[in-house]
Amino acid sequence: MEASATELLKQDHRVIEKVLGAIEDAAERVRRGEEVPVQLLGEALEFSQVFVDRCHHGKEEVCLFPCLERKGVPNEGGPIGVMLREHQIGREMAGAIGAALKEDLGKPEARARVAALCTDYVEHLRQHIFKEENVLFGMGDSLMGRDDHESSVECYERTEEERVGFEKHEEMERLAEKLGSARGA
Ligand SMILES: [Fe+2]
Repeated sequence: MEASATELLKQDHRVIEKVLGAIEDAAERVRRGEEVPVQLLGEALEFSQVFVDRCHHGKEEVCLFPCLERKGVPNEGGPIGVMLREHQIGREMAGAIGAALKEDLGKPEARARVAALCTDYVEHLRQHIFKEENVLFGMGDSLMGRDDHESSVECYERTEEERVGFEKHEEMERLAEKLGSARGA
C-alpha cells in the first residue's frame, strides 16, 4: 500500500523541519553579531508561504481535517480547532518576520527583533508539528479506514496541484534541501 494520508503529511513535516533548522541557525548567528542573512530568510519565508501554508496546511485544512470531522473529531473547542488556530498564528508570525526584515537592520534592536521572531516561529511550528503527529494523526489512524486514507490522498494531489502546481512544489523541496544543507555554513 502507498503511504497513508497521515504518513504523507509527516513526510512534509520532515521537509519543513529542514527549513526550520536553517531559520534557527540564522537567528543564532544574528545573536552572535553576524549580519542578518536577508536573502536566506527571504527564501525561508517564501517556502513558508508556498510549501507550509498554501500546500501543507491546505492539505490538512481541505482534506484531512474535514475527513476527521466526519469521523467525529471535534473542530470548535477540540483538537482541529486548535490546529487551525495555530496555522493562523504561524501565518501571522511569518508575516511579522517579513515586516521586521524591512526595518533598518543596521540597528541592533532591529536585528535582535528579527532573531527573536525567527526563534519564536521555529518553536511555534515545532510544537505544532509535535502535537499533530502525537495527538491528531494518531486519532486519525485509529478512526480512518483504507477508503478515508485513499480519498484524502487524492484530495492532497488535487489541492497541491490547484494551489501550488507540481513544478513549484518540486522547486520548494529543492529549496528546503538547499537551505537545510547550508546549515552552520
Ligand atoms: Fe502539519
